[in-house]
Amino acid sequence: MKGNRIIGTGAGYPDQIMTNEDIAKIVDTTDEWITVRTGIKERRIAEEHESTSDFAATASLRACEMAGVDPEEIDLIILATLSPDMLIPATACIVQDKIGAKNAACFDLEAACSGFVYGLACANGMMPEAGIKHALVIGAETLSRVIDWSDRNTCVIFADGAGAALVKHEGGDRGIMSTYLRADGSAPPPWLMVSPGVAYRGPFSEGSGTDFAIRMEGKEVFKFGVKALPDAVIGAAERAGVSIEDIDMVIPHQANIRIIDAGAKALGIDRDKFFVNLDKFGNTSAGTIPLAMDQANREDRLKEGDLLALSGFGAGLTWAGSIIRW
Ligand code: UT7
Repeated sequence: MKGNRIIGTGAGYPDQIMTNEDIAKIVDTTDEWITVRTGIKERRIAEEHESTSDFAATASLRACEMAGVDPEEIDLIILATLSPDMLIPATACIVQDKIGAKNAACFDLEAACSGFVYGLACANGMMPEAGIKHALVIGAETLSRVIDWSDRNTCVIFADGAGAALVKHEGGDRGIMSTYLRADGSAPPPWLMVSPGVAYRGPFSEGSGTDFAIRMEGKEVFKFGVKALPDAVIGAAERAGVSIEDIDMVIPHQANIRIIDAGAKALGIDRDKFFVNLDKFGNTSAGTIPLAMDQANREDRLKEGDLLALSGFGAGLTWAGSIIRW
């Protein structure tokens, strides 16, 4: 326990809502199929002028405002994303400029849907040793740009949005108790997700828009998620020295309601303890956990001293858990 506590959270996402009915006008699907098979009813989709750094900056400023911290006090910005504004510079640097965090070190991190928890682990490891007192950890995506809008296997689930957590080193017995990071790079593409321009080492500029899109073997990823979600919680709980029964809330990656149901069952944790908002936001990859955390926080669902478990899983394969004493 290093005494690194989340003192502010924020969310940022497009105003534009796309419902299941809207998607059914684009691909062969129905509101009923999407609702029953995924739990998603609607999602946020960026307009042409919007990008990942915009949602990340909004989320960050809201987190700073809640914490009462001036952006100039931030020492580190870690931005987890698989849909950065561009490859160079890091989107974290773009966010730094947008929010005026001129004293922060900045880098992006790519661990797909586990990215936010990976980022939290990095920040926790660096605080306070690397001279970091305030760290901003962001999960942000504009997945609508890397979706093949003719592929009903992916376009019904992925979406845009961001969440941010402001972490402060303050000592004491509240904050991040443990992190548990795992990866298995042996899954063959396109078993999970690839942008062929990257995965097949082709030049970025070649190919059509749909060549440069997420591909997914949904069923295989589903089976992986059902195992990874509980493993991340159990791994983090063991490291924190807490028992599963003591967990007050789980914020899982919001990929599919059926994965969350199965994960709850496997863990033997009351399903009501799982915070879910995928019905409104869909799967925003690195964004889902901090987006949900901000909503839970603002709805006052997290009380001082509560034990919160985070569980992320996704491409890589990667999966990651954390236990936080709120
Ligand atoms: O965030 C990173 C991790 N990602 C995930 O965790 C995603 C995990 N996977 C999933 O959530 C699910 O696999 C999906 C939502 C992607 C797909 O659901 P599924 O229950 O695995 O469907 P399926 O691929 O087994 O397809 C079942 C049927 C098929 O039809 P037949 O062969 O039974 O006639 C599909 O062609 O449903 C059909 N189908 C659809 N029908 C209407 C597949 N997608 C759709 C669709 N609308 N969008």
